[in-house]
Amino acid sequence: MGTDEPRTVRAMAATSYGDPARVIAPVDVAVPAPGPDEVTVTVRAAGVNPIDGKIVRGQFGDDPAALPRRIGSEAAGVVSAVGDGSRFAVGDEVIVYRAIGGYAQALLADDETVFRKPAALPFPTAAGLLLTGVTAADLVETAAVTDADTVVVHGGAGGVGAIAVQLAVRRGARVIATAAQRNHEYLAGLGAVPVVYGDGLTERLHQAARGPVTAALDTVGTDEAIDASLALGVAPERIVSIAAFGRGGDGIILVDGSTPQSKRHRAEAIPGLIADATSGELTVEVAKTFPLEQAGQALAELAGAHPRGKFVLLP
Ligand SMILES: NC(=O)c1ccc[n+]([C@@H]2O[C@H](COP(=O)([O-])OP(=O)(O)OC[C@H]3O[C@@H](n4cnc5c(N)ncnc54)[C@H](OP(=O)(O)O)[C@@H]3O)[C@@H](O)[C@H]2O)c1
Repeated sequence: MGTDEPRTVRAMAATSYGDPARVIAPVDVAVPAPGPDEVTVTVRAAGVNPIDGKIVRGQFGDDPAALPRRIGSEAAGVVSAVGDGSRFAVGDEVIVYRAIGGYAQALLADDETVFRKPAALPFPTAAGLLLTGVTAADLVETAAVTDADTVVVHGGAGGVGAIAVQLAVRRGARVIATAAQRNHEYLAGLGAVPVVYGDGLTERLHQAARGPVTAALDTVGTDEAIDASLALGVAPERIVSIAAFGRGGDGIILVDGSTPQSKRHRAEAIPGLIADATSGELTVEVAKTFPLEQAGQALAELAGAHPRGKFVLLP
């Protein structure tokens, strides 16, 4: 049992809704003593995800009463206090997903959202693994990818896309993935045939496929990605997207973790993702680390630069 005293820590929060580089500021927050089946985690690294920026920009609501709004959906750190009945002990290295307010020096987490981090898995990698990992697993499961498939992954060098590529390759599928030219060597190393997105995409994918394309996993959400998938003759129910929410009318499948099936896919994927990222079987790149105080800059950069790999904050 650790200290049960509440403590005050530094967190980064949205002080209004808008450009993350302008509106995210440090705030002092009280971390209450953990209640039953809860732990306090001292954060060693926090994953930065596009959804954090969307929340700050007000795309999921702009209620002024919710300000200052804590952000950060995943983190890795060390348990510093435990509540009654918790399965964890002070000193355990853990991953928190979903975290509430991961951009902070410490946070309170329910045991159900805490997973043991193997010592060999670095904190920054662990902090950037699960949100993208479970989403990629959901894409591959929902599309029911097998070794009989030729699969297109749209946005194959992104956080979600790079894991989706690896999971589909591991199932024995032939994988073609779209990315900027500078990421092609990386994608080839993951086992995919790289293709540049943009004008003429359908024809390039057709050439690369050397046969029918049977499934498409979309992490980008552009009309170009969905239109190319349909034009290649992929059945709409095997075009699965995490971002093309305006294209549901085409009969494609949209996943966001909200349905029982999508929740199950995501929960079941977690142990394997942690084990495979630790063994090195799954490649998870950390593109850049930032001090916690530069959270706004990290989110602004994430929106513009298309980094390959994860951005991670270090408190
Ligand atoms: N529904 C869900 O459950 C769920 C869960 C997680 C994420 N998401 C959403 O999924 C999206 C991707 O997330 P992420 O974490 O993978 O983001 P990310 O790491 O920023 O990757 C996005 C990738 O998209 C590629 N890209 C950009 N413009 C493109 C275009 N016009 N055509 C093809 N590829 C393009 C970029 O690759 P290049 O560098 O090669 O250009 C970039 O690597 C975000 O919108 C995020 O909010 C949804």
